[in-house]
Amino acid sequence: MSTAKLFTPLRVANLQLANRIVIAPMCQYSAVDGCMTDWHLIHLGQLALSGAALLTIEATAVTPEGRITYGDVGLYDDACEAAMARTLEGVRRWSDMPIAVQLAHAGRKASTEVPWKGGAQLPPDHPNGWRTVSPSALSFAEDEAAPMALDHEGLARVREGFVAAARRADRLGIDAVQLHGAHGYLLHQFLSPLANRRDDAYGGSLENRMRFPLEVFDAVRAAFPAEKPVTMRVSATDWADGGLAVEETVAFARVLEAHGCAAIHVSSGGLTPAQQIPVGPSYQVPLARAVKAAVGMPVIAVGMITEFEQAEAIVGTGDADLIALARGILYDPRWPWHAAAHFGASVRAPNQYLYSRPRQSPGLFAPPAES
Ligand SMILES: Cc1cc2nc3c(=O)[nH]c(=O)nc-3n(C[C@H](O)[C@H](O)[C@H](O)COP(=O)(O)O)c2cc1C
Repeated sequence: MSTAKLFTPLRVANLQLANRIVIAPMCQYSAVDGCMTDWHLIHLGQLALSGAALLTIEATAVTPEGRITYGDVGLYDDACEAAMARTLEGVRRWSDMPIAVQLAHAGRKASTEVPWKGGAQLPPDHPNGWRTVSPSALSFAEDEAAPMALDHEGLARVREGFVAAARRADRLGIDAVQLHGAHGYLLHQFLSPLANRRDDAYGGSLENRMRFPLEVFDAVRAAFPAEKPVTMRVSATDWADGGLAVEETVAFARVLEAHGCAAIHVSSGGLTPAQQIPVGPSYQVPLARAVKAAVGMPVIAVGMITEFEQAEAIVGTGDADLIALARGILYDPRWPWHAAAHFGASVRAPNQYLYSRPRQSPGLFAPPAES
């Protein structure tokens, strides 16, 4: 029997997770008009066979202008919903891994080229571009077109976009919603004093900067079935002078928990080109630890977690309850299998692949599902 904490189960609200490994949301920039394509079936399908506890669908825009690029997935109309339904039907046919969706609005970081074509902002008059929105009319980089500051009607439209997308997610049988409050996108723009210079009830003090993200959280929480988790991903710090600080994120996390947030995923950065990030293995774990010390809800750590013992140390010492993998699981989509073999633990594997079990790991694959 394995003693690795990484392979112990965890319950998040009503969601039973088989182990502590989460697949982080990863944009694929391969949708057409917000609609998932065959790429998503291939991509999510293979990750759903990885043995992780939870698969998180990439940042999914709640309005068309909330997409980072013209290739982003959306959940803002019937066509997007039907395309996602088709993908999920294929994935679920062969995997029972729980699935979350990250609902997102890119704010002033929307309307860009896909990363492999340089990722530059596309101006509103470009065929693949549009006018962006943000808390204040401040661009991300100096040479970019400035966003339009959202007025009260605009705020209501965005909030309703999140609510409608959450309802669609529920209709699709999605198990959990994660709100994207990180990486310099719209909700993070409200939280950060560097992007939010409003002088109304949504800007200034931390209480005011938290107002819109909390309104969105409350509205989504009310719209999504009570037994299913609604969680938030945050950038704990902007890594920049005058930016959002970890103490503010800790305060935000406490309030989120009081509002019924089921878990918090702690990332960082993305708000300003002036950021100075001390990138290295586990570099965001101290941020997760700071949040975990202040809340009772499960905390997810992410960022350059690539080694089995490194992951075990994070959950084993209690720095976080779960670890998330992004680049590492793209590179090695069987990372959880290999971690389980390393620790003498077991994972679920598809019946078709049970023959691949290494001789040295007789208990690696949990008993096959009926099918
Ligand atoms: C290809 C790719 C796409 C990403 N897309 C998203 C996304 O949709 N939403 C998000 O919150 N983070 C996104 N991220 C960030 C990852 O979720 C993760 O936080 C980051 O890559 C650090 O983890 P890692 O070191 O395991 O890659 C993306 C990262 C990569 C590599």
